[in-house]
Amino acid sequence: MKVFVAGATGVLGRELVPRLVARGHEVVGMTRTASKQDGLRALGARPVVADALDPDAVAQAVTSAEPEVIVHQLTALSGEMSARDMRHPDRSAAFTMTNRLRTEATDYLLAAGRAVGARRFVAQSFGAFRFARTGGPVQTEADPLDPDLPAPGLAGILHLEQAVTTIEWGEGLVLRYGGFYGPGTAISLAPDAVMAAPIRKRRFPIVGDGGGVWSHVQIEDAAAATAAAVERGQPGTYNVVDDDPAPVREWLPVLASALDAKPPRRVPRWLGRLAAGEAATVMMTEVRGASNEKAKRELGWQLRYPSWRQGFAQGLG
Ligand SMILES: NC(=O)c1ccc[n+]([C@@H]2O[C@H](COP(=O)([O-])OP(=O)(O)OC[C@H]3O[C@@H](n4cnc5c(N)ncnc54)[C@H](OP(=O)(O)O)[C@@H]3O)[C@@H](O)[C@H]2O)c1
Repeated sequence: MKVFVAGATGVLGRELVPRLVARGHEVVGMTRTASKQDGLRALGARPVVADALDPDAVAQAVTSAEPEVIVHQLTALSGEMSARDMRHPDRSAAFTMTNRLRTEATDYLLAAGRAVGARRFVAQSFGAFRFARTGGPVQTEADPLDPDLPAPGLAGILHLEQAVTTIEWGEGLVLRYGGFYGPGTAISLAPDAVMAAPIRKRRFPIVGDGGGVWSHVQIEDAAAATAAAVERGQPGTYNVVDDDPAPVREWLPVLASALDAKPPRRVPRWLGRLAAGEAATVMMTEVRGASNEKAKRELGWQLRYPSWRQGFAQGLG
């Protein structure tokens, strides 16, 4: 098939493109940066340069590719986040831009896909921190979400999920990834990895009882699920997370050890709220994890790292 990947140079896109090529697909990869074209060629894609926030440029790029499937992996999360940004992620430059990419750019890509007769649209969403805090520790796609939960970038996520899953001209699939880890991601062995760095400095403590349940996914596994979703699966929403949602108090010490860091400090809930804000405290203590049963069943997805227990030891990079 002809597949158009917006965000082909990002952390997920770089893993996805070679997988699609290896499966025999013809891939056009979009970047806004002319100097990244050679990198895309090296991955096996034909590059196209366009700014995702320019509707005419997006329409032209998609038209030139004539794709059957469009994959939307646009974010703007690679910049540094200050402590202030962490307190109010939605006011940060990163999430302000990512919200635009998940609203405006989603609409431009959908319009272009419809105009060119694409039949499938697969988009990146985020699965953690979103479920109502009423049920058990692990929730499925059918369980209710809590609109007040502190998932950063929620406005963009909600728009994207609604817009993609309601298209009538084709099949819209939304992939709610867990927290990425592995090469190039926020949790890797690179010294400047955004989330690993504060863990190494012991600035990422366990707050309260550390009972918030997080879902992770290694980046190669996330890309494998995405490649599968290009080819199969009914329209709708899929949790793309590993088999092992776990409370912060369990996974954070294991991750610290894998990063050769000292064990995380523990701080009481009131201090966590004071230092990092209410949203971060809820993430640390109350959020629910996600089940991947549907993605495994309907996408035929097999994980290389079914648990972060093995993944943090072997799959960080
Ligand atoms: N589920 C998760 O945990 C999750 C999800 C996403 C990201 N992250 C984290 O965020 C960090 C950065 O992610 P990333 O590597 O994907 O980088 P990124 O800077 O977020 O960029 C992602 C992609 O979006 C493209 N893009 C952004 N704005 C664009 C625009 N206006 N027009 C066209 N393309 C545009 C980029 O293209 P060009 O730069 O080539 O122009 C790139 O291909 C990592 O630490 C990762 O772990 C985590």
